[in-house]
Amino acid sequence: MTENRPASGKPEVGLPAGRRPLVAANWKMNKTNADAEEFMREFLPAAEGIAADVDVVVCPPFTALRAVAELARDSRVRVGAQNMHEEDSGAFTGEVSAPMLLELGVEAVVLGHSERRQYFGETDAALARKVPKALDAGLLPILCVGETEQEREAGETERKLRHQVQSDLAAVDVARLPDVVIAYEPIWAIGTGKTATAEQAQAAIGFVRALVSDRDGGVARAVRVLYGGSVDAGNAAELMALEDVDGALVGGASLSPDSFLSIAAAARP
Ligand code: PGA
Repeated sequence: MTENRPASGKPEVGLPAGRRPLVAANWKMNKTNADAEEFMREFLPAAEGIAADVDVVVCPPFTALRAVAELARDSRVRVGAQNMHEEDSGAFTGEVSAPMLLELGVEAVVLGHSERRQYFGETDAALARKVPKALDAGLLPILCVGETEQEREAGETERKLRHQVQSDLAAVDVARLPDVVIAYEPIWAIGTGKTATAEQAQAAIGFVRALVSDRDGGVARAVRVLYGGSVDAGNAAELMALEDVDGALVGGASLSPDSFLSIAAAARP
């Protein structure tokens, strides 16, 4: 617990550290700056009650990052972005780079969320550049992978996961792999209320870990793999208790401080 704390008193995110559970809020395109501040004012004092061994990350839209990071500065809550470009600067209209995020106090970044892949043309080739870039910049990458309903029904889940994990992490040095967080998010479970069963989540996440062990067995034991897809206060404890599940990436149920708190409180080291 304390060995991972630098002088600031904040636990390090991104180190394997015996697979500290991580619970992350993905607000997607929700909350104005004022809404985000209101959430943080309610959430922060209560978040101090979450077990010290649990990493808590909140990922607001870009427009609220500065305010949320300032409010979270002396707390145990870290701030993440929802996307990032792999170049530091340049003619990439509408994009945001790692140095821009770091300057605001951002410490993590969600990469390859299925909504970015589906609606905004995020490719595995781009992710293969973004993940190492985030690591080099000192940001904790939370890489999302997962299959569609059709892929699952066609028995293609493992093929899809293998392709995404292998391609997106191809340029990450084995020594840096423990610093990557992978979020398994079956696309059919996102925002649908149709959570994966415990068996489905454990099987897919165990498979993701096995894919990492193709690179290195020790690293596979250290890398954190989260479940995402309709996690709520009612199902979080069961999902996060699964052997290979190290936490949750939460969308809809992270928008209210109360429900995100109950989810984070269900995480167990
Ligand atoms: P959900 O979203 O919890 O609303 O299903 C999860 C995610 O997309 O990360």
